[in-house]
Amino acid sequence: MNNIDNTFPQPPKERFFYLETYGCQMNVADSELIIGLLSQSGYRKTDDIDQADVIIFNTCSVRKHAEDRVLGRISNEKQRKLNKPDLKIGIVGCMAQRIGKRLIEDNSGIDFALGVDNYSQLPSFLAALDEPASFTDMNESEIYENIEPEHQGSTCGFVTIMRGCDNFCSYCIVPHVRGRERSRPFEHISHDVESAGNRGLKDITLLGQNVNSYHFQEIDFPILIERLAKINSIERLRFITSHPKDLSDELIRVMADSPKICKHIHLPLQSGSTAILRKMNRKYDIDHYLTLIHKLKAAMPEIAVTTDLIAGFPSETEADFEETLSVMRDVQFDYAFCFKYSERESTAAAEYTLQVPQAERLSRLQRMIDLQREITLKKFQAQIGKEVVVYIENLSRKSSQQVSGKTDDFKIAVLDGSEKDFGKLVKARVISATSGTLICQRQA
Ligand code: 5AD
Ligand code: SF4
Repeated sequence: MNNIDNTFPQPPKERFFYLETYGCQMNVADSELIIGLLSQSGYRKTDDIDQADVIIFNTCSVRKHAEDRVLGRISNEKQRKLNKPDLKIGIVGCMAQRIGKRLIEDNSGIDFALGVDNYSQLPSFLAALDEPASFTDMNESEIYENIEPEHQGSTCGFVTIMRGCDNFCSYCIVPHVRGRERSRPFEHISHDVESAGNRGLKDITLLGQNVNSYHFQEIDFPILIERLAKINSIERLRFITSHPKDLSDELIRVMADSPKICKHIHLPLQSGSTAILRKMNRKYDIDHYLTLIHKLKAAMPEIAVTTDLIAGFPSETEADFEETLSVMRDVQFDYAFCFKYSERESTAAAEYTLQVPQAERLSRLQRMIDLQREITLKKFQAQIGKEVVVYIENLSRKSSQQVSGKTDDFKIAVLDGSEKDFGKLVKARVISATSGTLICQRQA
């Protein structure tokens, strides 16, 4: 925010930090906070790990696989200390919160672990670090208003509007590591969106675990986005993630009425079986979910709907799983992030009997992915011939004569262009499609 505290301790000599980020967009945004904080504190960011005096992993605990990857990275990188004894390696984020203290005690090769509410202390913590230490006290009012994030993308900006989660879905570690839900003040969010726009970031994504329950004084989520959509310095406004139990008719109305609000919603379904949803503690049933989809499509026929799905939740039968496939066929999601259920210590579902065998989880996951790939391909091919507006973000990975970007409805599009186009909205016609990319031709 505006009143930056410039009194963070400075390192004695120029020190470089290297930061690797895992997990969700919330972690990407937290990494931007950490980069902002360390830069204000005299550290310099480097993308060259060989140059680093401090290596930081911003970690995710949502699935075991995410934690295992970071443990693997630490075990590789700690060899560097043989040639560089002063090198410090540490973790921040959800895994630091969850098991940071344990990792320090077990001598796992990290020098520090800092929890999700303790980033403000990072510079002083690093300055005082003479032996491995963890600091993971939860402070459930922390919303980091004294740190200016340093946005990393040159075109898209993430703005965190709330932290934590109160929903306790039975499979999910997030409420256990990120603490209770708290919303940032409206004025601060509005300042961040406006200034991101002034710095050339025209496509802004608002972030929260459940943005629909945003609440600050009399401002709820529909009021928030309706006001933010009037900010002149930005062109597009998106938000993730929505929870089906809290998505209101008023939100649908505001989305439909505000041209700057992108016609895309990420609405995690998790399972197509009402019995499993109940065991997941999701607090909606399939009828409610399908009614929401119907209302969204009635108000915005062109809306793209994406989702998250879990295969092999405890006690999920073949029939429950078939129900998920059937809802996928009915809704025709534009994209689905499909996950294999992973039991997480201290969550309710980890204690459930009737855990589905790993091989069955994997085979259901594969069936889900195969079905979604077919649906996504159909959805993308249905765009052929249409005119879209692409917000150009990057050079295409395949050709330096081409650029890539996002459509309003969150599809990746590729077209001829150059770096000069970055940050521009370009009209294009879709000429072909794969199950992940629209191939477009620029329009005059
Ligand atoms: N196992 C598998 N997937 C999970 N998710 C959250 N917790 C788990 C878990 N224990 C998925 C949900 C959520 C997404 C971010 O990650 O689908 O929406
Ligand atoms: Fe996890 Fe549920 Fe909260 Fe999402 S809403 S972060 S899945 S507990």
